[in-house]
Amino acid sequence: MSTQPATPGLRRDIAGHSVVELAEKFGTPTYVYDTTPIDARIQDLQHFDLIRFAQKACSNLAILDHVRRQGVVVDAVSAGEIRRAMAAGYDLQENPPAVVYCADLFDQDSLELVIKHDIHVNCGSPDMIDQLGQVAPGRNITLRINPGFGHGHSQKTNTGGPQSKHGIWHEEVEDCLLRADRHGLGVTGIHMHIGSGSDFEHLAQVCGALEETARRVGRSITSVSAGGGLPIPYRDGEAQIDTVRYFELWDQSRQRLAKEFGHPISLEIEPGRYLSAEAGFLIAEIRSIKKMGENLFYLVDAGFNNLARPILYGAYHPMSISPRHGGVPDTTAEVVVGGPLCESGDIFTQEEGGYVCSRRLPVAKVGDYLVIECAGAYGQVMSSNYNSKPFAAEVMIRDHQAQLIRKRQTFADLIQGEVIPES
Ligand code: LLP
Repeated sequence: MSTQPATPGLRRDIAGHSVVELAEKFGTPTYVYDTTPIDARIQDLQHFDLIRFAQKACSNLAILDHVRRQGVVVDAVSAGEIRRAMAAGYDLQENPPAVVYCADLFDQDSLELVIKHDIHVNCGSPDMIDQLGQVAPGRNITLRINPGFGHGHSQKTNTGGPQSKHGIWHEEVEDCLLRADRHGLGVTGIHMHIGSGSDFEHLAQVCGALEETARRVGRSITSVSAGGGLPIPYRDGEAQIDTVRYFELWDQSRQRLAKEFGHPISLEIEPGRYLSAEAGFLIAEIRSIKKMGENLFYLVDAGFNNLARPILYGAYHPMSISPRHGGVPDTTAEVVVGGPLCESGDIFTQEEGGYVCSRRLPVAKVGDYLVIECAGAYGQVMSSNYNSKPFAAEVMIRDHQAQLIRKRQTFADLIQGEVIPES
């Protein structure tokens, strides 16, 4: 049961666990994931034949294991992600494949793993077809197509169109089919991930492009993937996406293809953000409060080394304050929230282009906690060790239990592998 106070910007608990107690027990900064929203989002997508979690959004083994138990499969964009899926208990022999390698290239490591474990490949470039075909002819593959247009919440996340490096350019499909033929590879599916967002007109265009490509490939197609890109409400007042309408648009395309081809076509979806974003909270401690001219700064012990989305994309995350000693501050202030890094851009309240902005938050004291919300997708996974900061701890709350799922990195972890040459 949530016991959130009514005061805006105040948060006492996460899934029934006091923020202060979580911070005292696990330290700060710490990522906390509440599994309840993940489970709800999985339920929203049950109409699809298969939900394939884009694990790049949140790949902690405990999270992967949690979604696996609910029948959710995963994609992998690197050898490391293939190994994570295996470590989280995914069975590589399953059909439909529990793990699909989906990238625009193979490095040596990923190609070796894909061959060794017979992992299904969704090819994002013509070269991948040749490189796979040369060493492992006779397999089935799927093609990730760039339909020539795209969408995304920022220029850096737009995944379609001529400026995007992702996928096989739509005009090269026939060439790719010839390449596949040369190696006896069967093309069994078409995939489009172009950062669709919640614009249904745009989505209809994507569905049309996918259908048209599937027709060019022909009857060997048995599956289509809608990719990811489902948005979540980061700001107050933004609505949840209508997943039924989303499904219906894709389903209509799928049905038409099934009818034309005379066999069933399975429909996959590949969400990252949608499954995990709302589940994640980054707890940080306010370590300094200072004025710079007109601006009031709350400086916390988490920085863009922990959550890079604001500095990278000007991304907005909801924030709240948990007073360490209880009490309810009755006043709020316009504050700029920054981190500990020795870099001016280490600001959580910024817009795209690096413009510093402010947020109305309760008046706080040094030692109170700041919670950055909707941080469960592209949060911890995009962390760095910049300024020799260790990775944060991660905690999962499931069935009312708060359990550590990643230990905070130690200094020894941080320098592991570094070598001072003997002179
Ligand atoms: N499938 C493919 C092939 C992808 O490239 C991606 C994301 C997804 C699925 C999942 O997309 P989602 O449902 O999460 O939108 N770091 C950025 C997002 C980069 C997305 C990269 N590809 C951010 O923090 O917003």
